[in-house]
Amino acid sequence: MRLQLGSAAVAWLALGGEAVASQEEVKSNRVRNIAIIGAGAAGSSAAYHLRQYADEADVKVNITIFEKTGRIGGRTLTVSAFDDPLQQIELGASIFVAVNHILYNGTKNFNLSIGSNYRVASSQDDVTAIWDGDSFVYETTDGTSWWWDAGKLWWRYGMSPYRAVNLVKEVVGKFLKLYEQPYFPFRSLTARAYELGLVKITAVTGEQFLAQNKIDETFSRHIIQAATRVNYASNLAYLHGLETMVSFATDGAMSVDGGNWRIFDHMVKTSGAAVLHNTAVSSIGFAKDKTSSSAPKYEISTRSAAGEPEVVETAFDDVIIASPWQFSNIEAGEGVIKHHIEEIPYTKLHVTLFASPFKLHPDFFGLPPGTKAPSNVYTTLAEGEEPKEGAEGVGKTGFYSVSTLRMAVNPKTNKTEFVYKIFSPKPVTPQFLSDLLGVQVPDTFTATTEENGGGSSQNSGVDPISWYYPHWFYSYPIELPRVTFQDPILGSGLYYTSGIESFISTMETSALMGMNVARLIVDDAAGISRAAVPGANDELIVLRCRSLFMDTTSLIRVSRHARFRNEEEMA
Ligand SMILES: Cc1cc2nc3c(=O)[nH]c(=O)nc-3n(C[C@H](O)[C@H](O)[C@H](O)COP(=O)(O)OP(=O)(O)OC[C@H]3O[C@@H](n4cnc5c(N)ncnc54)[C@H](O)[C@@H]3O)c2cc1C
Ligand SMILES: *[C@@H]1O[C@H](CO)[C@@H](O)[C@H](O)[C@H]1NC(C)=O
Ligand SMILES: *[C@@H]1O[C@H](CO)[C@@H](O)[C@H](O)[C@H]1NC(C)=O
Ligand SMILES: *[C@@H]1O[C@H](CO)[C@@H](O)[C@H](O)[C@H]1NC(C)=O
Ligand SMILES: *[C@@H]1O[C@H](CO)[C@@H](O)[C@H](O)[C@H]1NC(C)=O
Repeated sequence: MRLQLGSAAVAWLALGGEAVASQEEVKSNRVRNIAIIGAGAAGSSAAYHLRQYADEADVKVNITIFEKTGRIGGRTLTVSAFDDPLQQIELGASIFVAVNHILYNGTKNFNLSIGSNYRVASSQDDVTAIWDGDSFVYETTDGTSWWWDAGKLWWRYGMSPYRAVNLVKEVVGKFLKLYEQPYFPFRSLTARAYELGLVKITAVTGEQFLAQNKIDETFSRHIIQAATRVNYASNLAYLHGLETMVSFATDGAMSVDGGNWRIFDHMVKTSGAAVLHNTAVSSIGFAKDKTSSSAPKYEISTRSAAGEPEVVETAFDDVIIASPWQFSNIEAGEGVIKHHIEEIPYTKLHVTLFASPFKLHPDFFGLPPGTKAPSNVYTTLAEGEEPKEGAEGVGKTGFYSVSTLRMAVNPKTNKTEFVYKIFSPKPVTPQFLSDLLGVQVPDTFTATTEENGGGSSQNSGVDPISWYYPHWFYSYPIELPRVTFQDPILGSGLYYTSGIESFISTMETSALMGMNVARLIVDDAAGISRAAVPGANDELIVLRCRSLFMDTTSLIRVSRHARFRNEEEMA
């Protein structure tokens, strides 16, 4: 299906796609109809901040959120252990940190209590360890989120742990400038990343960035790579420097009791937006009747869970696409998307939640009989093991992490059991579970589950596994080095939030992009203009980014994967 190019589009193209409202429009202060597609972190934050900024600037907005599913939160979601609604477990995004201002402020503003249920110390002797497939390279009895400690590691890795801590602080400091003027708001993420000196860090692999900063290879492999694997299912050789730093910035990790999605749910409610659940947008085109002199309006068609495509009556002044385009199944009319949205490779991650009365078995890890296995096992590559890309990169451990999330009461037996979470590149097998727990898990056990990415099955009696919930996600991009990013403006009044995911993929950064887009929309509607970053020049930035990339090409093992915004820039 091709949509017709509306007359408004022709007018807009003739005007060169300028987004700023005319003086007439600013004065008339009519209601702007704004559509948000997707109610994950990005869409919810966009709605919340639109309401806040619009009220402050006395701009009238009527926000409609289209959400494919029946819930708010997108990749931030919980499931019920033992199908008991009182025992919620994070299936997707599970932690954030205190410097995540939007999320952290959300917990305060919405009076949500913070726990650390992502990995509760289930007992005093809760141990976290890093396994390389042969042996444990690191162990800590700290039941806290600060699962490694530079002070304790100096004897083994020298100055590297301190250097790593300082490097993380420095990089996080640069990133946080994105929240403040003159860096906020931003029309080009590429430009801001460059201006903040962050492109130098995304242009190289984590491995290169750490080496440049004199961080020891063994420390990087043992400790930092364990963090990049549990957070981004990636080895240091295939993850850019910035995302490597983010993986390691876990100081003060927390989560919301009852589920992180509750922040986004409150954001949506506070925004006063109309939410259309179970309503997937199927197409975006230009609205045919041209009511405004310069800016185009958009027509949206939806498909409900059951039904046929249906055209929404309202013509929208602004549309925010708040979901990765390549998975959103939306058709765009001709000329609607002025800046092509590049397809990027995503990681396919298997997340397996289950409950069992059994602890992890020492045999599995080659520990002597009678010893205790750690309760949380992160993994890395063994010395000399080749760091491969994607699913192959998991190496001989076969999984990225196994965590004991908490204790939970099995309602069938009234006994306390362990709730586990496994991250792996492939579905978990009964053999793997049998070995891991040291008890026979029936072959038929996992067979019923993999359809449609998830499901639940409950066994009867005293089982090795009493509750089992496997799921897979396109969890985040494969974060290969790159120097340009998909910018948030696709056309006049048309915005996209997911480009930030190849820069950093977290709930907070998606929420930041939602907030940024909200600011841009209100700025344009209210005729607010802002000073540029001193010395900034977009053309020059693209050129410099390119030369920066060319300079380092010989160093970048995965350089052929690094993406430019579009093909012309490559030429
Ligand atoms: C297993 C896992 C672990 C993670 N761990 C963490 C973590 O610990 N900390 C962290 O900060 N981040 C983590 N992340 C990453 C984090 O979840 C994402 O970066 C973030 O949630 C992305 O939010 P978003 O709003 O951009 O996209 P999404 O959450 O994907 O939201 C998009 C929304 O759009 C909807 N949608 C899609 N297409 C349409 C359509 N056509 N019409 C209407 N609606 C549509 C979807 O249903 C969805 O609700 C993790 C992700 C996964 C999968
Ligand atoms: C607000 O948007 C809804 C669609 O969600 C629409 O039905 C309604 O007419 C709009 N209100 C105004 C004042 O434009
Ligand atoms: C968070 O809250 C503080 C204190 O109210 C405020 O100064 C800051 O601007 C807020 N930041 C964001 C990103 O909401
Ligand atoms: C905040 O939540 C706590 C319990 O979670 C409750 O006791 C308190 O009254 C709430 N405060 C406000 C202002 O809603
Ligand atoms: C579990 O305990 C509850 C109340 O404590 C009780 O009602 C229920 O019958 C018990 N179930 C089993 C299987 O023992």
